[in-house]
Amino acid sequence: MQEHTRLPIGLFDSGMGGLTVLNAIAQRLPWEDLLYLGDTARLPYGTKGRETIIRYTLLAAKKLVERGMKMLVVACNTATANALPVLRKELSPLPVVGVVEPGAQAAVTVSRNGHILVIATEATIKSAVYEQAIVRLRPSALCSAKACTLFVAMAEEGLMQGHIVEAMAHYYLDDLLCKGPDEKPDTMILGCTHFPLLKQTLAEVVGPDVTVVDPASNVALAVHRELEVMGLLGDTSLKGKYHFMTTDNQERFARTGSLFLGRELRPEEVELVDL
Ligand code: DGL
Repeated sequence: MQEHTRLPIGLFDSGMGGLTVLNAIAQRLPWEDLLYLGDTARLPYGTKGRETIIRYTLLAAKKLVERGMKMLVVACNTATANALPVLRKELSPLPVVGVVEPGAQAAVTVSRNGHILVIATEATIKSAVYEQAIVRLRPSALCSAKACTLFVAMAEEGLMQGHIVEAMAHYYLDDLLCKGPDEKPDTMILGCTHFPLLKQTLAEVVGPDVTVVDPASNVALAVHRELEVMGLLGDTSLKGKYHFMTTDNQERFARTGSLFLGRELRPEEVELVDL
């Protein structure tokens, strides 16, 4: 078990989005090593069918298992929504943490009127996992959901602000938010790990009476708790090391990844892998 605690935490997303989760984990658990895989060759997952998402997710998980990890964080809502039970079964007894439950928990905690809007990819919305988790946690809650497919492409493009992002946000969200105070959601979950990159613009468009929830910090909390419970916490006197893998175009991963990480990522720091 001692040896085991030294292994990295594995994180996986279809692309760069999961780096928003990596940031939150790095902030909360700075001593842990992190091993990140972005499956940019197959991105986007959000427009794919369930079986395809499960197949891709299992391939990515297999690659991380080969490298060695003590826990898998599915830093992708689409993969969590469609493949979490299969992953848990296949990888057992390795602990697997998804992003949906911690996101739903964060939202029900901050919502006052219990009306929560989930924005995510098509495949996450179709799975209805957020609604199910929210209603389980707060049975009186009311959920609205909206697939915002193009936000993924904008985030991968590094387009975070400006009139194109604003226009797109109005296009997707106006009909959900132009309602009377009784019908209007007071909380909006960023149910895709790419969306936090657009958070500032989205918050401006939805206005100050809607709290925008990024599940990432609650995911980091869930990871921390699970490591503690499993006796898998690393040596807190160390400084964690990070390794990045992508399935396509290291140069692009480094360029856009720098925006997600908020620090420069050089192409030499990114390993190209095949699944
Ligand atoms: N970042 C992924 C998520 O959280 C989805 C992006 C994609 O469509 O691949 O849902």
